[in-house]
Amino acid sequence: MFTPAITATGVYVPPHTITNDELVVAFNAYADRVNAENAEAIAAGTLEAIPHSSSEFILKASGIESRYVMDKEGVLDPARMYPRLRQRSDDEPGIMAEMGVAACKTALEKAGRSGEEIDLVICAASNMERAYPAIAVEIQKLIGAKGFAFDMNVACSSATFGIQAAADMIRAGSVRRALVVNPEITSGHLEWRDRDCHFIFGDVATATLIERREDAAHGFEIRSIRCATEFSNNIRNNNGFLRRNRPDGMADRRDMQFMQEGRKVFKEVLPMVSAHILHHLSDEQIAAGALKRLWLHQANKTMNDFIGRKVLGRDPEGNEQPNILQEFANTSSAGSIIAFDRFSDDLAPGDLGLICSFGAGYSVGSVIVERF
Ligand code: COA
Repeated sequence: MFTPAITATGVYVPPHTITNDELVVAFNAYADRVNAENAEAIAAGTLEAIPHSSSEFILKASGIESRYVMDKEGVLDPARMYPRLRQRSDDEPGIMAEMGVAACKTALEKAGRSGEEIDLVICAASNMERAYPAIAVEIQKLIGAKGFAFDMNVACSSATFGIQAAADMIRAGSVRRALVVNPEITSGHLEWRDRDCHFIFGDVATATLIERREDAAHGFEIRSIRCATEFSNNIRNNNGFLRRNRPDGMADRRDMQFMQEGRKVFKEVLPMVSAHILHHLSDEQIAAGALKRLWLHQANKTMNDFIGRKVLGRDPEGNEQPNILQEFANTSSAGSIIAFDRFSDDLAPGDLGLICSFGAGYSVGSVIVERF
């Protein structure tokens, strides 16, 4: 058996930023437009007017200040309200592969490794841009990796579940070096016309390089990983390959984008995640107080504050539980990896930390790491 370690991470940041104010201007213009088109029905009381959104609400409810996107113009066009992506030929890299490769190259460069040294690529994300061939196989080819590659989807928990799959294979010796890649184009499945959630998501790609500990001079040894799932409809997206076969399947249906019962998610996921982390630590005989850092899933600041308090038994201080959601919004599976990438260099050898993701499924994954 070998000991797996995270030896580098990479983050690809998309080219455009949307601030809350810009987003709200676009949403309110969209609402005014739809309300004007339906003025008679609204006056007759048969249709409700769409209320305005507000930057103050967004910041207070989520902690989000801005987000990155692959296309800004389409999202902010009140007559469209979703990204406009270039049609690519089958002979050029797909957009997810391109984003993923950029993140992989940063991770490889940091570790002084080349693509040829990789023998496993897992593309783990909330959505794949096509059914097949797997995006991971395309990334494998583009970086010149050997071995094999596959896609997996556990929504917001895709990164930690991917790390578990890769780490277990490294532990067993079936692969030597793996990249877990999380290209998230959440702007493609967010319903930008829904005031309750239009501010939630942002785009990004992350990559995590996992090797045998003995192969690296420094990094984060993976001490233990735990994944759990429990079925829930409270975060759901009904889009899929059977869409056109179903009545009204091709219509502009709300359920073909991200949907959530935000309040229920809050109420149900928080205790599930806190208990999951505490049990994981207790089974590993690690006191919560021994953790130098929590790199949590980046969905909502209040949620993270709550989990931090519950796990540590007090308010997290300084950078103990860093958030990046104010800059990136919720980037689905990539969020905890961005936090890890940005806030892990200062840890000293022997320091312990915990990466945790959670979301649709429900799903929760925790990774205990030790700096070396
Ligand atoms: N602008 C202004 N007001 C808004 C608004 C907006 N964009 N969206 C909702 N509101 C209003 C609502 O109409 C409601 O008004 P009312 O009290 O008069 O009815 C009020 O604000 C509260 O709405 P609510 O939806 O209950 O807000 P919330 O405080 O629960 O926050 C979320 C909403 C989505 C931020 C929150 O539920 C959340 O983060 N849930 C966690 C789930 C999550 O992040 N999932 C992502 C996948 S992991």
